[in-house]
Amino acid sequence: MGKAEKSRIALPVGSNLDRFIMKNQEAFKYATGELSQLIRDLAYAGKVVNREINRAGLADITGAYGAENVQGEDQQNLDVAADIRFTRALQKGGEVAAIVSEENADIIDLNNPRAKYIIAIDPLDGSSNIDVNVSVGTIFSIYRRVSPLGSPVQMEDVLQAGKEQIAAGYILYGSSAMFVYTTGKGVNGFTYEPSLGEFILSHQNMKIPKEGNIFSINEGLSNHFDEPLEAYLNLCKDRSYSARYIGSLVADFHRNLLKGGIYIYPRTPKVPNGKLRLIYECNALAMVAEQAGGSASDGKQRILDIQPKSLHERVPFYVGSKRMVEEATMG
Ligand code: AHG
Ligand code: MN
Ligand code: MN
Repeated sequence: MGKAEKSRIALPVGSNLDRFIMKNQEAFKYATGELSQLIRDLAYAGKVVNREINRAGLADITGAYGAENVQGEDQQNLDVAADIRFTRALQKGGEVAAIVSEENADIIDLNNPRAKYIIAIDPLDGSSNIDVNVSVGTIFSIYRRVSPLGSPVQMEDVLQAGKEQIAAGYILYGSSAMFVYTTGKGVNGFTYEPSLGEFILSHQNMKIPKEGNIFSINEGLSNHFDEPLEAYLNLCKDRSYSARYIGSLVADFHRNLLKGGIYIYPRTPKVPNGKLRLIYECNALAMVAEQAGGSASDGKQRILDIQPKSLHERVPFYVGSKRMVEEATMG
């Protein structure tokens, strides 16, 4: 990294997100200002969703929506509300050609054929935790479309390997709300300051410890784990590592990013490809993990190298501290 580039990203902790995005715009590969606007749109929708989540116990928005999404999962009211918030924010901006969302079976074509960007999003991750006041999140990926501008969006625009992401991140709605993102030049985290209505840079150039002592996996499924995974978990227990599993991927990932650890959602006979979705859950967190010095694998290969074949496909997911992911996927 050159001196000028270093000084550009060497803003003091405390900058607000808008200012940080502006200062770093020239460091983006495509510095037209549209990507900056897009990240601002995501942060704005995140603030609105955060407000709704904070009022969830008072407003009539907890509980089931009464429908299933394309994966046959019960949609929660807030899943649907968050999906609408993000779609609207991205539609208004005009930078996005299409969205792939957990909550929609097909591509959402925003009828902006001249727009350059494609978004993949899990609008509300961990939504079954909402009613019990546990942290939830939003996960997003940004791609550049590959088909010519001006033409209708194609399947190849959305079925891109994770390594093609130009930016990715998540919003955590926890004890504080946080916006964490990368444009491929490290990871920065912003904490929401409600009295200002702003995300403020609080975690500059985040790095995940190479080795950690936390493992996060749903051990209720452990009778169905394969032998190498069982052996790895026994190793974790021999070393008296801590088991921590919230059941909200964003929250589990975020804790492990800060403290060092591994998150695993493995394949089991019931879910032979795991549970988590490649395009709008795993890819974004894999990019954040790698940019923070960590790693992400499906057990056999790097998540970011996988060529997706369909919108909602699932993959086993091992993500977190580099040495832990290596050790867990060795067998
Ligand atoms: P979503 O709410 O978007 O459907 O995702 C839920 C995911 C993820 O957040 C979490 O880590 C995982 O489901 C938990 O699954 P189990 O209950 O099977 O452990
Ligand atoms: Mn999810
Ligand atoms: Mn979701």
